[in-house]
Amino acid sequence: MRVRTIRDLSAADLKGRRVLLRVDFNVPQDAGGAVTDDTRLRAALPTIRALTGAGARVVCCSHLGRPKGRPDPRYTLAPVAERLMALLGSPVRFVPSVVGADAEAATRALTDGEVALLENTRFEAGEEANDPTLAAAFARLGDFYVNDAFGAAHRAHASTEGVARLLRPAVAGLLMARELEYLGAALEKPKRPFIAILGGSKISGKIDVIEALLPKVDGILIGGAMACTFYKAMELETGRSLVEPDRIEMAADLMERAAYRLTLPHDATVAPAIAEGARAHAVHRDAIPADEAMLDVGPDTIASYRRAIGSAKTIIWNGPMGVFETAPFDAGTRAVAEAMAEATSRGATTIVGGGDSAAAVEAAGLAAQMSHVSTGGGASLEFLEGKALPGVVALETVAS
Ligand code: 3PG
Repeated sequence: MRVRTIRDLSAADLKGRRVLLRVDFNVPQDAGGAVTDDTRLRAALPTIRALTGAGARVVCCSHLGRPKGRPDPRYTLAPVAERLMALLGSPVRFVPSVVGADAEAATRALTDGEVALLENTRFEAGEEANDPTLAAAFARLGDFYVNDAFGAAHRAHASTEGVARLLRPAVAGLLMARELEYLGAALEKPKRPFIAILGGSKISGKIDVIEALLPKVDGILIGGAMACTFYKAMELETGRSLVEPDRIEMAADLMERAAYRLTLPHDATVAPAIAEGARAHAVHRDAIPADEAMLDVGPDTIASYRRAIGSAKTIIWNGPMGVFETAPFDAGTRAVAEAMAEATSRGATTIVGGGDSAAAVEAAGLAAQMSHVSTGGGASLEFLEGKALPGVVALETVAS
């Protein structure tokens, strides 16, 4: 079974019909509200264009930020509508309400191929509570439902889950389908060797994904400050590095069970503080000075992780190797991105989980050289953890 997509709908299903299209336009903005990274908007364009091209009347809806269930001008989608219009090169009607008579009238005023964007779904208290009354109000805004918001698929909200149960057909958009295809294929039928690279500051956020991936992968390479919790379990000095004391036992247990499949950085780039990049230097992992912190993986680790990536056929990466926003602690993260780009060019499947690692790949200008860069941070992590995503489960399925 696979999820039903817009490709499974007929021309008659689309032409002249209103589609409620859930997108994830939760994008970074500057203080004035201007969109600073439009990756998620660009990722939704193929679905929007496929729908408008088929003569559907497209009613987009999304959350933005975390307003507290009531209108808050700081989180209006108005600037997002502006950017979407520029990217599409055609008008986008911004609707300043989420649901209700005005919103419904706006959807009914659309002509074939026109696009509207509703106000932030989280301005409604019932959104995060998955309130059935709100879901029913969403259902009145379309004749069918398409979910392209992979990034929000791990949330069981009224616009992602509740409405999909009421408004049928309820199918996936092209981005959603692509995300599920890449992440699903990597887990179910990976070309081997299959390795995962997991970084980030805290082991607590990655423990479930490590557990879920261990039986599937040929190796897991660890980076980021979370390596230090493992070091602590090995009774190494970790200096001022970030360590989660309540996870040390868990780290010891994981190392024992994973044995050779879990690789920790052999060396570290350390400095007294992030701001003191000039005093950064590399040390073996058993020589971290008591008054310094590990802020990146070291050069030996970079070389060996490059080799591992170079000989793998499927590589999944989630989480930076160091404090990648600040040079020189970006070297490990950058090296992983480069090695993955090279791996793609020799035929490997390379997948970057969303969030920080996607941002790092984007910043390095290497996003186009990956097989797939997920638009979902939390969603891709939960998918890799083997959890069912409510926004996906609520969609229709067909025999594959
Ligand atoms: C994300 O940015 O990961 C998604 O848009 C979900 O946002 P949320 O964590 O606020 O639900």
